[in-house]
Amino acid sequence: MTLPLRIAPSILAADFSKLGQEVKDVIDAGADWVHLDVMDGHFVPNISFGPDVIKSLRPYTDAFFDCHLMISPADPYLEAFAKAGCDGITVHAEAGAHLHRSLQTIRALGKKVGVTLNPATPISVLEDVLDDVDLILVMSVNPGFGGQKFIPSALDRISRIKSLIGDRPIELEVDGGITAETIGAAHKAGANVFVAGSAVYKGGAKDAYKANIAALVSAAKA
Ligand code: DX5
Ligand code: ZN
Repeated sequence: MTLPLRIAPSILAADFSKLGQEVKDVIDAGADWVHLDVMDGHFVPNISFGPDVIKSLRPYTDAFFDCHLMISPADPYLEAFAKAGCDGITVHAEAGAHLHRSLQTIRALGKKVGVTLNPATPISVLEDVLDDVDLILVMSVNPGFGGQKFIPSALDRISRIKSLIGDRPIELEVDGGITAETIGAAHKAGANVFVAGSAVYKGGAKDAYKANIAALVSAAKA
């Protein structure tokens, strides 16, 4: 099953003093989804923002809000993120003891269901939840910070996960260190959704975002 190529800018690299405008600008510049990196200072060594900030961004666009929860535990907060206006909610396989329950909770909230794996998380964790997810997010850096270098072993992980997915209509997303230099190989390996923070928001203005997104798309297709 071939799903569309999508660019999902991470607002972690945006100017936090004008986040609403930054969300609107990046969608006007050609992005498909908005990637929301939620960090708790416990599951990952950094703190970003929570549901109230997401709620305040919701009026700026109708684009898909792709929420990446780097929090542990996640279950007590899933409803708050759903109510804040997230369209998809992705939890880390390592975030709690009951992954299947977390996925069911997201499904019951009426949101797209995502699971994500750190660079060293065994891929086998996916085998028994493949029919319960809409999206698999492969981390190509250790989560916590933007601007890190792409970890090459993510490519082999993407191809192995792509084979596991088979014909299922599951979005295969990659996150971390995606640039015009790395996106082509990640696309070739089988990913169709590309998170990019620094590579999209560099330049700090809408015209730059437009050029950055176009460069990513053409490098992905090259
Ligand atoms: C890392 C986050 C990423 C990150 C991507 O913890 O999940 O989404 O912000 O940033 P870049 O594209 O700069 O690696
Ligand atoms: Zn992310």
